[in-house]
Amino acid sequence: MIATPQWTAAEGRQDRLIRQLTELLADASGLDLQGADPALSFFEIGLDSLFLTQASLTIQKEFGVEVTFRQLLEEVPSLQALAAHLDAHLPPEPEAPLDAPPSSRPASAQGSARPTAQEAGGDPTLLERVIQEQLAVMAQQLEMIRRSGGGSETAGATRSVEPVAPAAAPTQPNGRPAAGARPTTGPAVRIETTSRHLTAAQQRGIDDIVARYTAKTGKSKGLAQQHRAHLADPRTVSGFRPFLKEMVYPIVTTGSSGARLRDVDGNEYIDLTSGFGLNLLGFSPPFVVDAIRRQLDQGFEIGPQTPLAGEVAQLITELTGHERVAFCNTGSEAVLAACRVARTSTGRDTIAYFTGDYHGIFDEVLFRGLVRDGVPKTAPGFAGIVPGMGGNVLVLDYDDPASLAVLEQHAADLAAVLVEPVQSRHPALQPREFLRALRERTSAWGTALIFDEIITGFRTHPRGVQGLYGIQADLATYGKVVGGGMPIGVVAGSARFLDALDGGHWQFGDASMPERGVTFFAGTFVRHPLALAAAKAVLTHLKAQGPSLQERLNATTAELTNRMNGWLAARGSPLAIEYFASMMYLTYPNDLVYMGLFFPLMRGRGIHIWEGRNWFLTAAHTAADLEAVYRAFTASVEELERLGFLPHGRQAPGADTPPHPEARLGRDAKGEPAWFVPDPDRPGKYLQVETGP
Ligand SMILES: Cc1ncc(COP(=O)(O)O)c(C=O)c1O
Repeated sequence: MIATPQWTAAEGRQDRLIRQLTELLADASGLDLQGADPALSFFEIGLDSLFLTQASLTIQKEFGVEVTFRQLLEEVPSLQALAAHLDAHLPPEPEAPLDAPPSSRPASAQGSARPTAQEAGGDPTLLERVIQEQLAVMAQQLEMIRRSGGGSETAGATRSVEPVAPAAAPTQPNGRPAAGARPTTGPAVRIETTSRHLTAAQQRGIDDIVARYTAKTGKSKGLAQQHRAHLADPRTVSGFRPFLKEMVYPIVTTGSSGARLRDVDGNEYIDLTSGFGLNLLGFSPPFVVDAIRRQLDQGFEIGPQTPLAGEVAQLITELTGHERVAFCNTGSEAVLAACRVARTSTGRDTIAYFTGDYHGIFDEVLFRGLVRDGVPKTAPGFAGIVPGMGGNVLVLDYDDPASLAVLEQHAADLAAVLVEPVQSRHPALQPREFLRALRERTSAWGTALIFDEIITGFRTHPRGVQGLYGIQADLATYGKVVGGGMPIGVVAGSARFLDALDGGHWQFGDASMPERGVTFFAGTFVRHPLALAAAKAVLTHLKAQGPSLQERLNATTAELTNRMNGWLAARGSPLAIEYFASMMYLTYPNDLVYMGLFFPLMRGRGIHIWEGRNWFLTAAHTAADLEAVYRAFTASVEELERLGFLPHGRQAPGADTPPHPEARLGRDAKGEPAWFVPDPDRPGKYLQVETGP
């Protein structure tokens, strides 16, 4: 909760509002905004567009004044401008005597909001005026709260739920930012509507890119427009920025096979998005299509049991080494089930996860960790998530020994530690030792260690990261690859935890019965025959292939990535591709604002990728496909360099002698050429080399 601002006689209402807003936004974002220049834009003080959506709701709730997301971006884009806006729209403050400093009022009135007739000088006229003013102010406030949707008891209630607070603060070794300074999650709709200054040549360059791209994909664009009114689809607006506006629409496809997509305009693409990671064996592998077709012919009834449920569960236990298996429809549901059975089996409440993880769409796993006054806390990562949902979660820094210490303090109430063992948005961070430490400690504490392998499961190794690292989790979640393109979620684990779904083992013909305490987890479509038919085909194929399938793919990915990174390094580009197994992620400094052009450029060159998403190689990509990816990549980077949107070594003045053999040229926060070296603590990230006097 924000602190009530302290009155000072000299402080005007706008100053007070600036202080109040600073605290409010600091609390919600986890950023230390103390001393932030109120004239700087929200972006400049570190608040991103995603956060501003949330902030607009928080501000409306707190002040009862409507401030839209767009206003925060364009009309009132700083603390100062926002405070002035609020000042103009809030009801006027009462005139003296109420506005006078307390000491100037009669002693008996201090601490009381409403003077009595005697305190008001016994003058009924003055008293009436004061009361009328106050009633008018209250009426205005109520009207504003009502208009902002805060009028109902639930929506209007400002609840302060104290999140879990450990006894001591985690330290931040190696100068890492505090947990929570970064968002917790992966996929999200990012909309930015500010424009930046461009030279005439750059504007012409953008116009040319837009013209080429929209000429090639015009039918996709037309469909986005045609259906926007009735189809509410975050993907059709993801990545919105004014300079990209004419290219912000998804490619609409008419078909696919292997690693290729065909769109409504008749183009063919080599796909690197790979169904956000679900495509490992190619789209529509014949053995999966046949299995689904057979099941379609047989029927896909819901209600009774399909024989596939037991067969697929058995295959998963064989491949993963886990004892028992349960099914649902999405990865998010699988994570929810894992957390619920962990809580049921341990009788504890707290779930810990880490900054940078993505665990799906349920409220509890969409919190960001932040450190306020040295104490780790949580704040909702997105609008619409109530703070109270974060009351039983800890969000800590990943691969940080200080996080182990915080977990230790919470061990007695720690139901589970949930990890995305190698985070999809930071594949270069591969914290094997940290995971081992978590394994040892969670075993000692009786806490469930949950590996979220919804991307890495079956893709990196038949046993996922658990197989690669030789670490067996208590519970693991799977999805994506295992469904062969059909929707599925899987939670697997030891009987100690999975028994919470059905009471555990018993048999007919004797006195045995389900003995373990159970929780509730269900869904109309769980164990869907079509999804299970596809899963059986995928798992049977993976079992027959053995780990060599993933090993080959991982080696191909390493080769392609190293080739691209070598090319980037040689030209002093600040871009770098992180990778793990067959998952890749393009990284670049945040201040390269026009990098958004790179993605339509790649699609224009026939490579299907999304901004902010991983690239995945599949067993269906051929050597020729990868050569085409490389060529499109280098051509797109060169085009952005030519337009001056991407720096490279040749542009840097005085760039003849690198200060370090591994140094590469990039741009610093002010856009000046600067040298960067690999950060030893954060693989794939870079530190700026100080070269000044
Ligand atoms: C690691 C991880 N966990 C959970 C999920 C959620 O899975 P789903 O989108 O199927 O709900 C995802 C989705 O990308 C994921 O990458």
